[in-house]
Amino acid sequence: MPESSYIPWIIKYRPKSLSDYINQEEAKTILLNWLKAWDKGSPAKKAVLLYGPPGVGKTSLVEAISKEMNCEVIETNASDFRRREDIEKRIKPAATKMSLSGKKRLILIDEVDGLSGTADKGGIETMLELTSITKHPIIMTANNPFHPDLKPLRDASLLIELKKLNQRDVVKLLKGICEKEKIFCEDEALKIIHTKNEGDLRASINDLQNLGLSFGKVTASLVNELIYYRDREVNPFDTLRNIFTSKYAWQSKLAVSHSQVDIDTLIEWLSENIPVQLTEPEDMYLAFQALSRADIYRGRMKRTQNYDLLSYISEMVGPAISLSRKKTKFKWIKYEFPKKIRMMSETKKARESLNKAAAKIAKVTHCSRETVKSEYIPMLRALYKVNKTLATQIMEGLKLEEDEIKVIVGKSKESTENTEPSSTGPMKAEESLRKFETSTKKMGTRARKKRSL
Ligand SMILES: Nc1ncnc2c1ncn2[C@@H]1O[C@H](COP(=O)(O)OP(=O)(O)OP(=O)(O)O)[C@@H](O)[C@H]1O
Ligand SMILES: [Mg+2]
Repeated sequence: MPESSYIPWIIKYRPKSLSDYINQEEAKTILLNWLKAWDKGSPAKKAVLLYGPPGVGKTSLVEAISKEMNCEVIETNASDFRRREDIEKRIKPAATKMSLSGKKRLILIDEVDGLSGTADKGGIETMLELTSITKHPIIMTANNPFHPDLKPLRDASLLIELKKLNQRDVVKLLKGICEKEKIFCEDEALKIIHTKNEGDLRASINDLQNLGLSFGKVTASLVNELIYYRDREVNPFDTLRNIFTSKYAWQSKLAVSHSQVDIDTLIEWLSENIPVQLTEPEDMYLAFQALSRADIYRGRMKRTQNYDLLSYISEMVGPAISLSRKKTKFKWIKYEFPKKIRMMSETKKARESLNKAAAKIAKVTHCSRETVKSEYIPMLRALYKVNKTLATQIMEGLKLEEDEIKVIVGKSKESTENTEPSSTGPMKAEESLRKFETSTKKMGTRARKKRSL
């Protein structure tokens, strides 16, 4: 894969200028006018609070506008500077001193909603103070600016909303990326990506890259099969990326709790991808150690039905794995689908047929489906090898359907013969045959008795 493929497309295709930035005309105009007003002295409100749902284009708009106006951007993330001391040390000097280059300066403080909450005492007050003493325009971004804690900042700022782009715009943008990447795509597939991501452009571009690079094409059937709805939760590709890039424990905890997949599936994804992402042996060792501990706890939780253990498992698959990355530099990579999940989905049909057959035989023989799977089915399989007619007669007598018979005798395309842990050898099969004959005889006697009553 060429080195350029490792660059996340959300970075590669970030708007380079305001003309690349699609739509959002109202927000663009208000922001441009406010920035131009600074040329005539500081305006009444020295800060803008740009808000809208995740991935809608807040940060990109500020970056595009600053390029257009040739401004120097001092960019910080409020999640990294949440305490009074941090803001005073890192952001205040940039906001209150003139730029050495003489260029216009713009202070971008991303994700100020991270400042709300009791743990960040002092952060909001310091930001508020900054909005009155700043010598440069301050633009803050937030997903949800309506948290009660943010009221003072809201009052001190000019509020600008970014709305989700419509389907036509998103499809056009995604199509443009596919053309540049020389990846075949179906319009229908792009429409479904837009719908599934509910207007989150970052998520849509990420999904496009995941499919485009994994399969070399983006078709409606692939999107339907592999991209999850993002109404509440995040797909496993992004969950993994969020876990591996988290700097703080709380970030990776969020990544786990927002994950679309359950803990069992997430463990499979991590187990497949830890060695792909964490290439430094020490990091890989630490991450696998955390994962194996999570797996032990998962086993205990299932055995004891003590679901309190779940919170420890989340800690181990989230923060413990994030913090294992000490030496490996983060690199955008194509994550692999877990082999086990792939195999399970390939054999899904066969397993369903096998379960249906087991249920029918269990009813007749009065034993559990598990016993049928571990004893009677291997016996029928063995019998079929030595006496096809008898085995077929028995299976037809049991009213098994064609797909069920096929999977038992191992003729199904996705036979479970090699994947079922309970497959037994011929010795056990003979023993099972005897048991089977006895129980079917008993059944026959019982049925005859019933008829004769
Ligand atoms: N109007 C647009 N035109 C072109 N590309 C856009 C537009 N809006 C967003 N994008 C693309 O979507 C991606 C996500 O945008 P961005 O990072 O600016 O979102 P955000 O609103 O800041 O998200 P968050 O709230 O999570 O920080 C960008 O990489 C950019 O490529
Ligand atoms: Mg942003």
